[in-house]
Amino acid sequence: MTKRPTVIPVSRVDQLAASVLDGLRRTPKELSPVWFYDEYGSTLFDSICELPEYYLTRTELGIMQEHAAEMAQIIGPQAALIEFGSGTSLKTRLLLDHLVAPAAYVPVDIAREHLIEAANTLARDYPAVRIFPVCADFTAPFELPKQLQDAQRRVVYFPGSTLGNFSRDQARAVLQRMREIVGDTGAVLIGIDLQKDPDVLRAAYNDSAGVTAQFNLNALRHINRELGTKFDLTAFEHDAVWNEEQGRIEMHLISKRDQVVDVSGTPIRFSRGEHLRTEYCHKYTQAGFESLAASARLTSTRVWTDAEKKFSVQLLEPVRVQ
Ligand code: AVJ
Repeated sequence: MTKRPTVIPVSRVDQLAASVLDGLRRTPKELSPVWFYDEYGSTLFDSICELPEYYLTRTELGIMQEHAAEMAQIIGPQAALIEFGSGTSLKTRLLLDHLVAPAAYVPVDIAREHLIEAANTLARDYPAVRIFPVCADFTAPFELPKQLQDAQRRVVYFPGSTLGNFSRDQARAVLQRMREIVGDTGAVLIGIDLQKDPDVLRAAYNDSAGVTAQFNLNALRHINRELGTKFDLTAFEHDAVWNEEQGRIEMHLISKRDQVVDVSGTPIRFSRGEHLRTEYCHKYTQAGFESLAASARLTSTRVWTDAEKKFSVQLLEPVRVQ
């Protein structure tokens, strides 16, 4: 006699469908920004970084080029560098160029193939650095390699203003996880986009070439491919709005007409003009960011910015509770 399994295995597609449905059943509707990033979306994001209106990447790179030597000096010798959402590790190279005898580099990323490829490329260019890639979603607990024991200190690197994608509560949780990883002696080096003229912010996310619009719509294209849904990309339009009260840019897709889309057997109704939110991009004031960091028992001890104070790279150190 065969026994019924008590735990029914859920396929990857079912899991993805469940998370998409969860967001689409809310009011207002929402999707996770992770849907932007398939192969094509990653290429679109690279194009965004080249846009004249999108100041973030080039400004952060400029800050790193100017100050990486000083950052590396403050980090000190034999540090283990742990990067959250490492991608191509482009900015990390500027740190690795200056770090004295780093104990290890641990890129943490969810995209396995890209992670391995980036780690291999880096290993070729930095043969003296031990690289331990970890394929994980850094918003959930994950295990670090055992080999970090001999490091002088652990430093989490989180560039790109990616923290801005999280709600304040989620951002606090991410910072708390980093605080746990670095212990009482480590540090966090983080890229934070700063609040500025809303016109500059809106332009950065509503570029005149329309690349950001394509990037936003690509979330639907990606979902269509993974879940077999039939979102009509021409039936939605892109908008990025500045939410003054929350201090964030919000990426929206607006339904151009009344429509019903079948999502894994569940009909999802969109009315004309209805907004679907695809991303938050929080922009911080220095005071606002410091209070967020403090709530995760971290304190900003150094802030590097560009001449116009558009973007910041900050060193956060643990606040010890006696
Ligand atoms: C990769 C999260 C930093 O928030 O600016 C670019 C993503 N969204 N244009 C950002 C993005 C729209 C980007 N981050």
